[in-house]
Amino acid sequence: MSILSMQGVTKRFGDITAVDRLDMHVAPGEIFGFLGGNGAGKTTSLRMILDIIRPTEGRIAVLGEAPGQEHADRIGFLPEERGLYPSMKAIDTITYFGRLKGMDAATARAEGMALLERFDLAERATSPIADMSKGMAQKVQLATALVNRPDLLILDEPFSGLDPVNQQLLEAEIVRAARRGAAVVFSTHIMQHAERLCDRLLILRRGVKKFEGDLAAAQGLVPPTVRLTARADLAARPGIAAARILGRDGDWTRYEVDLSPDNDPGTLLETLTREGVLLRDFEARHAALHDIFVHLVGSEPQGEAA
Ligand SMILES: Nc1ncnc2c1ncn2[C@@H]1O[C@H](COP(=O)(O)OP(=O)(O)O)[C@@H](O)[C@H]1O
Ligand SMILES: [Mg+2]
Repeated sequence: MSILSMQGVTKRFGDITAVDRLDMHVAPGEIFGFLGGNGAGKTTSLRMILDIIRPTEGRIAVLGEAPGQEHADRIGFLPEERGLYPSMKAIDTITYFGRLKGMDAATARAEGMALLERFDLAERATSPIADMSKGMAQKVQLATALVNRPDLLILDEPFSGLDPVNQQLLEAEIVRAARRGAAVVFSTHIMQHAERLCDRLLILRRGVKKFEGDLAAAQGLVPPTVRLTARADLAARPGIAAARILGRDGDWTRYEVDLSPDNDPGTLLETLTREGVLLRDFEARHAALHDIFVHLVGSEPQGEAA
């Protein structure tokens, strides 16, 4: 069962194809990451799901139907461009959004206060947005997306503009929403968040899907490596496959070695021991999502416009 799906969705703006024949699906309770660099088509995709803009071609199903207003009360949305009424108080802002989603005022207010408590903002409930820091205002905006306990929560670059403590708080809130059964779709160009959070993820490059699946499947695309620190010149040793130098520390050199079916961590360690190489540390690791992204997209996620 899917709560959200796209079939052959294309969006053109004049000559620009922002999203190119995109297929994807998201299940209830799933945390789904929309990953891509600047201009990859993330915001355009999320806006089509929300019916803010219409696809040029293709089909989108949200909660079993075409995107549209009738679902508003079951969806929560944090837009990339944040903005609230500066003169409105925090709790009134959240209550107002709750009312727009069909909640009665008392319930919206109570839920709003509960959210402000969790966000460590309870004592600022009656502060106007204009008097708040950027991070605080962003938490209020997040609360407006959560107030109706949506079945589908869509967050466009939710981590940007938050300090590390609030980024953690946001991660906890995403997990919390998924645990109560909501599907959470968020976009980011910061791979670490996606790596920790996502049940499944999608990588976009210039509007084209390069990957959709879980982290384990993504890791399967890039060979695992061993990182080790040795007091030896590994380049001079036959039998040790391509070792890249990561750095030096006195007599010690940090290396990264690619693994393969006939060079697994056990075999590599055996070889090193047999050759009498002094080791300070030795760690087998899967490719980080960042490396997988670079492998698939050919540039850094924070890199120049795609
Ligand atoms: N309203 C618009 N008019 C023209 N071009 C647009 C519009 N919105 C987005 N684009 C273009 O579509 C591409 C994808 O943009 P966007 O979806 O915002 O990417 P992302 O959110 O991944 O950074 C970019 O080339 C962008 O310039
Ligand atoms: Mg965007």
